[in-house]
Amino acid sequence: MIRVAIIGASGYTGVESIEIILRHPEAELTYLTALESECGHAEDVFGQLKGRCDMEIEPLDFDKLSGLADVALCCLPHKVSMGFVPKFLEAGLKVIDFSADYRLKDPDVYEKFYNVKHTDTANLERAVFGLPELFREQIKGADLVANPGCYPTGASLAIAPLLKEGLIETDSIIVNAVTGVSGAGRNPSSKFHFPNMNENLFAYGVGSHRHMPEMEQIAGEIAGSDVRILFQPHAGPFDRGIASTVYCQPKGEVDCGKLAELYDDFYCCEQFVQICSDAPAVKDVAGTNYCHIFPTCVKGRIIVFSAIDNLIKGASGQAIQNMNIIFGLEETLGLK
Ligand SMILES: NC(=O)c1ccc[n+]([C@@H]2O[C@H](COP(=O)([O-])OP(=O)(O)OC[C@H]3O[C@@H](n4cnc5c(N)ncnc54)[C@H](OP(=O)(O)O)[C@@H]3O)[C@@H](O)[C@H]2O)c1
Repeated sequence: MIRVAIIGASGYTGVESIEIILRHPEAELTYLTALESECGHAEDVFGQLKGRCDMEIEPLDFDKLSGLADVALCCLPHKVSMGFVPKFLEAGLKVIDFSADYRLKDPDVYEKFYNVKHTDTANLERAVFGLPELFREQIKGADLVANPGCYPTGASLAIAPLLKEGLIETDSIIVNAVTGVSGAGRNPSSKFHFPNMNENLFAYGVGSHRHMPEMEQIAGEIAGSDVRILFQPHAGPFDRGIASTVYCQPKGEVDCGKLAELYDDFYCCEQFVQICSDAPAVKDVAGTNYCHIFPTCVKGRIIVFSAIDNLIKGASGQAIQNMNIIFGLEETLGLK
């Protein structure tokens, strides 16, 4: 049994990770931690766990952690995470970090978008980007996996086949996406608070969203050259899910009839990517680790639609997919 510690267990991705590990046949929860103010019996912190999780959520004690777990799922906010991760690694644990702290390879880009100096550049170098469908070989046996952001997961899976085959211009990709409210975590700002979100939909982070450089980094690795992406996020009045629409300019004439075949071939061996014959809906993937994708052509452009659950394929499910790969387990355990 893989012994799993969840750090930041009182948050949205924390409880989602608890749910998945509870049904995982080869992993067990051994340590749940949170800030002191949020601690208590797991069933009291989350009513949904009543009768299913007889564990305390406790303040983190590093001495206790090293003897109790093989892997830490670090569900902390960015900037906070990089203060903890070095200690988990020193304690000999594998770490899957949910924050952005180990995703961007260039510390200057991190500093520019997160307004803080990176304090753990040594581990940044060894971190592997945890998008299994694209970087599986690097994840195997890794000590530190940077779990991708939710928007970059949906958008990158949508355009990867086109970039890999060199079929689209790399300076004019547009990603337009809408997230549900849980994307903002459990302590939302007034903008994401119910009275503003209910019956509302708005764009935010115009020209400056932090997931833009992350998308460009992934796309650049796939294409083997610099890629420019214009990313515009929106928030809508639903709990969970991200619907992305990605607009691409083809390099030459598009053979639209062959797009579905290209995507079927690219993702043929993937358990969690489904190619659809129409634009996918967030409800189709809610509560699952799946990404649904529909590629098509309109007026000479290629448009690719994707849908994921931001808390599962965009966070906790993907983290446990990564955990399964790191430990050489069947990749779908706990996730189907
Ligand atoms: N939500 C998503 O859809 C999503 C998707 C992909 C990635 N992520 C990333 O996953 C991470 C967790 O997101 P989330 O949505 O679960 O956030 P969340 O609901 O706000 O939970 C964050 C957790 O970290 C704890 N925490 C906050 N500040 C801390 C500190 N200084 N020291 C120790 N613990 C602290 C919180 O405690 P309190 O409960 O006391 O605040 C809570 O347990 C973030 O880095 C986020 O960017 C989230």
